[in-house]
Amino acid sequence: MIEPVSIGLIGCGVISSAYLKAASTFNVLNFAACADIDAEASARCSENFDIPSVTVNELLARDDIEVILNLTIPSAHADVNLAALQSGKHAYCEKPFALNTVEGKRVIETAHERALRVGCAPDTFLGGGHQTVRNALDEGTVGIPIAGTAFMMNHGHESWHPNPAFYYQEGGGPLFDMGPYYLTALINALGPVRRVAALTARAFDTRTVGSEPRRGEQIDVEVDTHTAGTLEFMSGAIVTVVMSFDVWLHSNRFIEIHGTNASLSSPDPNGFGGSVRVSRTDRTWDELPLTHGYLENMRSIGLADLCVGIRTGRSHRCSGELAYHVLEIMEAFGHSSATGEHIELTTTPDRPDPLPIGLAIGELD
Ligand SMILES: NC(=O)c1ccc[n+]([C@@H]2O[C@H](COP(=O)([O-])OP(=O)(O)OC[C@H]3O[C@@H](n4cnc5c(N)ncnc54)[C@H](O)[C@@H]3O)[C@@H](O)[C@H]2O)c1
Repeated sequence: MIEPVSIGLIGCGVISSAYLKAASTFNVLNFAACADIDAEASARCSENFDIPSVTVNELLARDDIEVILNLTIPSAHADVNLAALQSGKHAYCEKPFALNTVEGKRVIETAHERALRVGCAPDTFLGGGHQTVRNALDEGTVGIPIAGTAFMMNHGHESWHPNPAFYYQEGGGPLFDMGPYYLTALINALGPVRRVAALTARAFDTRTVGSEPRRGEQIDVEVDTHTAGTLEFMSGAIVTVVMSFDVWLHSNRFIEIHGTNASLSSPDPNGFGGSVRVSRTDRTWDELPLTHGYLENMRSIGLADLCVGIRTGRSHRCSGELAYHVLEIMEAFGHSSATGEHIELTTTPDRPDPLPIGLAIGELD
């Protein structure tokens, strides 16, 4: 039995409920307090999940808290991570890791200097669907991966999110918002990326909020909302990636990987389970039996994995280095589009260790 790790939550908005519901799966997670710059949000979280509500400064000053879970909006991710590290605590944040690589590097360096851990969402690649994909690739099911596609296209989040402006500001847009799911799933499957070529555009300068309580409000669109790129992986595989908030409907699959022996179709990287299909002919797709559990919404499994790492000394899978590589790729889309150049990446993180087959729910290895 691993001794639980004491967590302080900063940022009590929409996604905090998903974390706190799934967190009860993992004995290693003990939520000691929550905080938000919006005291009402923190009070709501306190009431719903029976966690003491404190101010952000009070939370950072607490000696008993070992890890800060940072679920703030993208523009606050790096600052809150830095504040956590500077107060002697490990930090785990939602995606994207930072607004840009300058900010991201500062967080990585501060963690190294202080011998503290930094982790980052997404953790969906630890779900049974994506671990089955990883296992199939490691077993050589597709042969040598040659090519792939990744498509995330919809019309944005202003139809449902109560406070959607951040999705159209720096750190938002389809690439920084949804790209981390797809890019992390691809890196988990294929390893790190060598270079990126891309074009990006924006179809609408404003968006109209369709959800309460801001229905009818106009949002200025400050980032590109259609991004199309080509990634060359270190392995040589070439993957086409399209992330868009300018598309009403499409019929492309989430992620496909095509190898010398077969093609593989991966489930939604913004989820944990789903169907994995393989085609060893040029005509039919066959369902692959899932080799791993964790099929339901398990947001917090990446945090739990980091906490197990703290107690056992092993590395954690949703690492800052992995998230920084994803950030570098996303930033390269913009640079490539602006300059017309292929952008070489500077980092080559290891693929995260796969989860063992047969792991019981609540267990992590
Ligand atoms: N909403 C989703 O479905 C979803 C899913 C996955 C990931 N995420 C990610 O989670 C993060 C949060 O998203 P959300 O939907 O919960 O947003 P939200 O706007 O509902 O909540 C964010 C909360 O952070 C607080 N906050 C902002 N800056 C802060 C600061 N400096 N210090 C303390 N608190 C601060 C806000 O007051 C707010 O309560 C984003 O990075 C988003 O990309 C959201």
